[in-house]
Amino acid sequence: MIAHRRCGRSGILLPEISLGLWHNFGDVDDLPEARAMIRSAFENGITHFDLANNYGPPPGSAEKNFGTILHQDLAAHRDEMIISTKAGHLMWPGPHGEWGSRKHLLASLDQSLARMRLPYVDIFYSHRPDPDTPLEETMSALATAVQSGRALYVGLSKYPLPMLQEAVSLLRGMGVRPLIYQPPYSILNRWPEAEGIHAWLEEQGIGSIVFSPLAQGMLTSKYVHGIPVGSRAARPEGFLQEAQVLAQQEKIRALHAIAESLGMPLHHLALRWALQQQGVTSAIIGARTVDQLHDNLAALQAPTLEPEVLAAIDHIAPAQRKAHAEA
Ligand SMILES: NC(=O)c1ccc[n+]([C@@H]2O[C@H](COP(=O)([O-])OP(=O)(O)OC[C@H]3O[C@@H](n4cnc5c(N)ncnc54)[C@H](OP(=O)(O)O)[C@@H]3O)[C@@H](O)[C@H]2O)c1
Repeated sequence: MIAHRRCGRSGILLPEISLGLWHNFGDVDDLPEARAMIRSAFENGITHFDLANNYGPPPGSAEKNFGTILHQDLAAHRDEMIISTKAGHLMWPGPHGEWGSRKHLLASLDQSLARMRLPYVDIFYSHRPDPDTPLEETMSALATAVQSGRALYVGLSKYPLPMLQEAVSLLRGMGVRPLIYQPPYSILNRWPEAEGIHAWLEEQGIGSIVFSPLAQGMLTSKYVHGIPVGSRAARPEGFLQEAQVLAQQEKIRALHAIAESLGMPLHHLALRWALQQQGVTSAIIGARTVDQLHDNLAALQAPTLEPEVLAAIDHIAPAQRKAHAEA
């Protein structure tokens, strides 16, 4: 069974590996496989499932499919689960179909609850910072989500450090304790570390759940020799672009060589690395098949990475600030 870690200074414990439904759970995907992944994840101790309003495609279909699977297979276990959703990315047409207004966040949360057929979610996130809406308005929507019983806790995703600090202070002023922060974070994308975000979160007693710890699959062996058919980079609905893979290929090969020298697959190296970093509560992985899910869970049996291995990884892929916050 998977170990759980306390999420900051809170009562919530999250599994070291959580499952995200960004890709592979939409109406375009293999739904029997999606159902098998969710069942197997839960059977193996993954108690946290991460969603957002726009996951699919089409947008909303991952929440609808998750709701169906939950009610079919796992309804009796709802209280054992932490289910999160988010609002902020483009979801519907018109001026309030995205970003950080109260109008968008609270309408979107109601839509998410209806799609999943749930009375509340455990965590509701502001999915991205909005440069134009006053931060106070966005935080007031998160506070209302909790005060109205639609969410038990709130989180923030992808906020740069100064905005995160202001958001946390606003929420506390409204009597709502921010539970968790969700950044992209992997060996290939270390900007939260370069900005000192994890150190600050730890100090503040806020947990961090890092997304795309496998850099959307780039930190597996699949892209060492090119772009295989069926991979995320090869699929039209996949968010990973071929150019992103090619830009990272030299680093991928060097990291693959380190993993080989340790007798472990690259994805185990990547997951062990993420879980060893300061302030990380959980890593949210994606998976396309049950086999991939099991392969990733096996990383939890891999040995801790020694300081000389961490130094070799730092040499290949140092922590650097990034202008662009996506994985
Ligand atoms: N807050 C945000 O803005 C945000 C943004 C992005 C993601 N997220 C969250 O983070 C979750 C995870 O993101 P992610 O899917 O990018 O995570 P990831 O774990 O970095 O990448 C997952 C992908 O890597 C490949 N893969 C995984 N395990 C593999 C294995 N053992 N062997 C070979 N290939 C493997 C699969 O792609 P193939 O199709 O190539 O096999 C899989 O879909 C999302 O579902 C979402 O919940 C949040």
